Amino acid sequence: MTNNAAFLLAKRLGNFYAVGMKGIILAGGAGSRLYPLTLVASKQLQPVYDKPMVYYPLTTLIEGGIRELCLISTPQDLPRFQQLLGDGRRFGVSIEYRVQEKPAGIAQAFLIAESFIGQDNVTLILGDNIFYGGDSFYRAFADFKGGETIYGYHVNDPERYGVVEFDVQGKAVSIEEKPKQPKSNYAVPGLYICDNSVVEIAKNLQPSARGELEITAVNVEYLKRGQLRVQRLTRGFAWLDAGTSSSLHEASAYVQTIEKRAGIKIGCPEEAAFRQGFVSLEQLEKIVGAMPNCEYRTYLEHEVVAEAKRLNQ
Ligand code: DAU
Repeated sequence: MTNNAAFLLAKRLGNFYAVGMKGIILAGGAGSRLYPLTLVASKQLQPVYDKPMVYYPLTTLIEGGIRELCLISTPQDLPRFQQLLGDGRRFGVSIEYRVQEKPAGIAQAFLIAESFIGQDNVTLILGDNIFYGGDSFYRAFADFKGGETIYGYHVNDPERYGVVEFDVQGKAVSIEEKPKQPKSNYAVPGLYICDNSVVEIAKNLQPSARGELEITAVNVEYLKRGQLRVQRLTRGFAWLDAGTSSSLHEASAYVQTIEKRAGIKIGCPEEAAFRQGFVSLEQLEKIVGAMPNCEYRTYLEHEVVAEAKRLNQ
């Protein structure tokens, strides 16, 4: 696809604002699998090719039309995220920050961010999950009516993940966390679109055998209530997690390959904010103008700002 066609497609998909939907990026955890990389910078600040890992989930939420965000991390790492992302204004969003004192489970995010969520719906994304491609992925945000929407993605190592089993009609019938004998090859990626009852559900969870408030237990509760929608991600869609040295390396290689081949950037929140209409062209020009001379700035200047001006003529 030419840059022009990519721009027009993004324009067609964009300008969607998910009213009443908040977004949480969970970016804590011990990062022990990436030791010693994580001795001085958390996992979600590590580079995935040409930008910090957290830029990718941030971009995903912006592309999902979410403007009110909260980032959760450890007491020692949170200041670094604040330094990197600020109040979110340059991405056309607001970002609040909350501390998770100890990694007590993914579902604890809903409790830590309870006051931020208020009466709204909420999408939780894991800070080490990278999503790329396909408009059906984003349609799930627009189509969300209540309950919970999660995704299913075909992998060859399902035992590493939450695993969803489907019946012959394609309806989800079970979800298990890291089962030794997976009932399918469909892993549940780290993105959960939930209605407000998720806060109540999280409050009633008991810690699992490993002492965590499990996100899979939340998914199972929605399944029991008959309120779980599982959207299978199509072939060609990329879901990468970057939690180990080799998956981090593979994610970087993937991003580099696509970016070089297509002349676009994956996980560029400034661009996503512009395409969503969260920042105007004038604002984007100012934001780009404040960047040092670098390849990232050149991309935004040439492929986004200049292209938008040309199309506006
Ligand atoms: O990547 C998708 C998978 O993420 C799902 O399929 C699983 O159902 C889900 O449990 C989760 O599995 P992981 O083994 O990847 O979970 P992990 O403990 O590594 O945590 C994922 C991310 O969330 C990681 O970047 C650290 C962060 N985290 C985790 C926990 C438990 C926190 O910030 N706080 C926490 O308390």
